[in-house]
This record gives sequence, structure tokens and C-alpha cells, in this order.
Amino acid sequence: MKAIRIHEFGPTEEVLRYEDVPTPEPAADEILIKVEAAALNRADLGLRKGTYRVSPDQLPIIPGREFAGPIAKIGATVKDFKVGDHVVAYTGTGGYAEYAVAKASEVRPVPDGISSAQAAAIPTVFLTAWFGLLEDGKLKPGEWLLIQAGSSGVGSAAIQIAKHLGAKVVATTGSEEKARRLRKLGADVTIDVSETDFVPEVTRVTGNRGVDIVLEMVGGEVYEKSLEVLAPGGRLFSIGGAFGPIPDPPPVLTEGRRATRFSITNHLKARPQDLRQLDAILKLVQEKKFQVVIGKTFPLAETRAAQRYLEGREHFGKIVLTM
Ligand SMILES: NC(=O)c1ccc[n+]([C@@H]2O[C@H](COP(=O)([O-])OP(=O)(O)OC[C@H]3O[C@@H](n4cnc5c(N)ncnc54)[C@H](OP(=O)(O)O)[C@@H]3O)[C@@H](O)[C@H]2O)c1
Repeated sequence: MKAIRIHEFGPTEEVLRYEDVPTPEPAADEILIKVEAAALNRADLGLRKGTYRVSPDQLPIIPGREFAGPIAKIGATVKDFKVGDHVVAYTGTGGYAEYAVAKASEVRPVPDGISSAQAAAIPTVFLTAWFGLLEDGKLKPGEWLLIQAGSSGVGSAAIQIAKHLGAKVVATTGSEEKARRLRKLGADVTIDVSETDFVPEVTRVTGNRGVDIVLEMVGGEVYEKSLEVLAPGGRLFSIGGAFGPIPDPPPVLTEGRRATRFSITNHLKARPQDLRQLDAILKLVQEKKFQVVIGKTFPLAETRAAQRYLEGREHFGKIVLTM
């Protein structure tokens, strides 16, 4: 089969090699999936550079943390699935390929009406926003949520989940065109940070009170300034610093405010059964209550171009490889 492999870590996409590799065989508790689509994630860039969860002794490796397609083969002890079922898998690696294996516990069925491209683009960003907002942030109806980088994969999912929960959403973005699209997705207020400082604007919009929750993923100055717009009792949860450092441990704050970090990978490692909550998200997508925002698709052979595109600032929503 064709796959993208990394043999050595590197700063540019040149280390992604499109090559022939043996099709994997599922072990007893595994499923072989004919991959029709695999989603890109910012974590894939870290993996490629050697800064995200993979050590040199694991090379060569096929990246791709989430993918979807029909089941091609089933291990001897797998009970809940059969060959031909349309499924989505959330494995961490292996998805940039024509076939990939997943443990049965990493796989969920895809309801009718959802394409493989849509299904592959759901797990990381929707589960991060889902557990982050519901469990870490404890977002309640009527509360104000500030989403930094609203047009990111996680941001576009978080806007919809927050509106579904009845919250009020302010989302930041880097251009007026993206801001228009964020309002269409449901954001109540958007701030184009290329033109406007978000601190006075958030303060004005919330009547000088500040927001109840910040979903932060940019880092650096954006993290620091986000603390300034937290209302008393407010929570900032950070899911990473894509473009700047984040304090570790998070700072201690006053007046009941708190700052935390959230990782969907660590969350599912501790509570693997929570992957089943993907079913509720898939149902909301099937009912067209949630939209899977796919910015662009690339064929597998053009994965280098896809990662280059992800590293820029042009995209809106998810980037997906199709096989
Ligand atoms: N902890 C977790 O469980 C978890 C899970 C998923 C993702 N993440 C993290 O969350 C972050 C977002 O991931 P994602 O895949 O959703 O991101 P993404 O789709 O690649 O989006 C990133 C967005 O950040 C915005 N941005 C803000 N400052 C920027 C800058 N200086 N340069 C370029 N872009 C900038 C851009 O939108 P604008 O142009 O509109 O500003 C860009 O589209 C990453 O740090 C990722 O690692 C964490």
C-alpha cells in the first residue's frame, strides 16, 4: 500500500516520504480499515519535528492520528464490528496511509449521511472542545466564552458546542473574512486581532465584567492578556501554545479565577471509555446541528503541500487527506 512515512525528524515537510509499505495485519483485538480520509492536526507538525510524543527509536513512523473508512478485516476477538462497517478511528498515528489498523476500543461507527472526510475531521477537535468546555471549563448556559483562534479546527468546533450549550461566544481571528465565517458558525462577537486589541473589546462587550471562560491555544502574549479579561470566578483552560510559550505550572490567580491545562490525549488515556461520547457528537453532525468545517482536502501523495498549508495562516477549519 502507499503511505507517508517519517524516517527522521525535520523542521520542514521534506521528511515526509510517500512510499510503498506492507499493508498491516490486524492483531486479535484490532481492526484493519481501508482509509478513505485522514485529518491533519497541528500535533502532526510537532510529531514531524520530533517535539510531540514520538521518540527516535519509534521511527520510521506513519503519522495521522484520526482516519475513517470501511472495515477491511477484523481480528479474531473483535465482537462489535464487521467487515464493511463505516467507522472512524482515533489512534494517534498510522492514518496517512491507504490502510491502517486500530484497536477495537479506538473505533466508533459512523452514522449514515456522514462522509469519511467529515468523520476523520471530528475526533481531535470536537472531543477536545467537548471535554474541555463541559468538564474542565464547566460552561453553563448564558456564560461568556472567549475562544482564541476561532478559525482553528478546535475553535470552529468549540463555537458550535458552546452555542449548543446556550453560552455567549466571543471569538478572535486574524482577518475580517474569517471573522465573517465565524459569525456564520454561531459566534456572537468576533474580533479581528490584526486590527483590534481584544482586551478592551472583550471588556466593552461584556459590560466591563470580563468572560467566564477562555479557551486558549495561541500562547505567549495572547495567553497573558487573556488572563486580564477573566471575570471573577472565571476559568482559563489552555490546550497548548501553538505560537508562544505557556506558563507551566499555570499561574495562581485572584478572586476565584483559575487557569488550567487540558489534553485530550491524556484525558482519553486516563478514561478510554470516554471515546464513546464521540457517538453523541456524530449524531449531532448527522442531525446537522454541528457542521464539520473542512478548509481544504489534499490527495495522500500531496501530504507535504497539505502540511505546508497547515503551517500557514490561510486555512479555516480542518485539512483532510483523501486516499
Ligand atoms: N490539548 C489538546 O488536547 C489539543 C487538542 C487539539 C489541538 N490542540 C492544540 O490547539 C491548537 C490549535 O490546534 P488546531 O489543529 O485546531 O489549529 P489550526 O487549525 O492549525 O489553527 C491554528 C490557527 O491559529 C490562529 N493563529 C493565532 N495566532 C497565530 C500565529 N501567530 N500564526 C499563525 N496562526 C495563528 C490562526 O487563525 P487566525 O488567522 O484566524 O488567527 C490559525 O488558523 C494547537 O496548539 C494544537 O496543538 C490541543
